[in-house]
Amino acid sequence: MKDYSPNPSRYDAMKWRRCGSSSLRLPVFSLGFWHNFGSVDDFGEATAMVRLAFDSGICSFDLANNYGPQPGSAEENFGRIFRKDLAAHRDEIFVSSKAGHLMWPGPYGDGSSRKSIIASCEQSLRRTGLEYFDIFYSHRYDGETPVEETMQALVDLVRQGKALYAGISKYPPLQQMQAYRYLSSAGVPCLLSQYCYNMFAREEGEAALENAAAKGSGFIAFSPLSQGLLTDKYLHGIPEDSRAARPTGFLQAGQVTPEKVAAAAKLGSIAESRGQSLAQMALAWVLRDEKVSSVILGPRNCSQLESNLKAMDNTVFSESELQKIDSILNEI
Ligand SMILES: NC(=O)c1ccc[n+]([C@@H]2O[C@H](COP(=O)([O-])OP(=O)(O)OC[C@H]3O[C@@H](n4cnc5c(N)ncnc54)[C@H](OP(=O)(O)O)[C@@H]3O)[C@@H](O)[C@H]2O)c1
Repeated sequence: MKDYSPNPSRYDAMKWRRCGSSSLRLPVFSLGFWHNFGSVDDFGEATAMVRLAFDSGICSFDLANNYGPQPGSAEENFGRIFRKDLAAHRDEIFVSSKAGHLMWPGPYGDGSSRKSIIASCEQSLRRTGLEYFDIFYSHRYDGETPVEETMQALVDLVRQGKALYAGISKYPPLQQMQAYRYLSSAGVPCLLSQYCYNMFAREEGEAALENAAAKGSGFIAFSPLSQGLLTDKYLHGIPEDSRAARPTGFLQAGQVTPEKVAAAAKLGSIAESRGQSLAQMALAWVLRDEKVSSVILGPRNCSQLESNLKAMDNTVFSESELQKIDSILNEI
């Protein structure tokens, strides 16, 4: 692959939003490494996507310990790309990682105990070769670790210089609010709350977004396309190269239900009338609320990424469009 020299006008190509009450700004799109960047994936395409993202102003990269497969390999691949292409731009990029899901055997390789969080962050730093993460998240509330224990571990990572900010992901409402209180009182307010938010996951995303906004936390949305269901790819069956067909894909074929496919077809006509693809409209729909700091894209290739980027050109919806969208979604 040729040497990389970034596009000098990359910052003008992007739109920016502040994270809650912090002054930190993020690009409206971040790049996610959950799928498509692991050891089973095409490293050339992964490198090209990172370059295209950075050239387009996407300087925010979302990792986690377990992203792959193999678990850990997305962080390793990010590290390889970073060392070759982005090391000179470390202060221009915003890299996250997370711990909380199963990563290594035994009681300390899963969940949100202090032991797991601190050990996992050390491992993630080694895999990526970074000296620090910009934000480190608790990936989930595990149902048994006291929120205080997990949050104190995040606070300590920040104090130790291993992360600049702390964040939470997928916390249920009660624990979400407890986390905000603990982090604020420790002087490390929650910079970002990361939740699933898309047209097929409206209620949970909106509730989390309102809670975050009320407490000054920024909000970063994941799976904005419902893993591909909010595109036109499943309208005529399950394509061979799609996430639902791949053995390593998290989307199960059973989740491609006739109701969702029918809704996608109807939503597609509204998208068409807006001059957007369904995927672009679905991304724009998440961005229509200015409280959303950034949306994490999960493209499989450069052409998907290029098309998704155009969504930011029109994120305004008329009342009548929103009503039509709601009535389609209410039928599912
Ligand atoms: N905190 C958490 O627990 C959590 C959970 C999930 C995700 N995340 C983060 O959020 C990121 C994004 O999640 P996601 O991958 O589920 O996002 P997504 O955007 O909902 O789904 C990505 C998939 O949609 C399809 N797609 C994307 N752009 C397309 C386009 N223009 N046309 C047609 N199909 C398109 C591709 O499917 P095909 O492969 O079928 O082409 C792609 O693999 C992850 O990488 C991760 O960083 C965090």
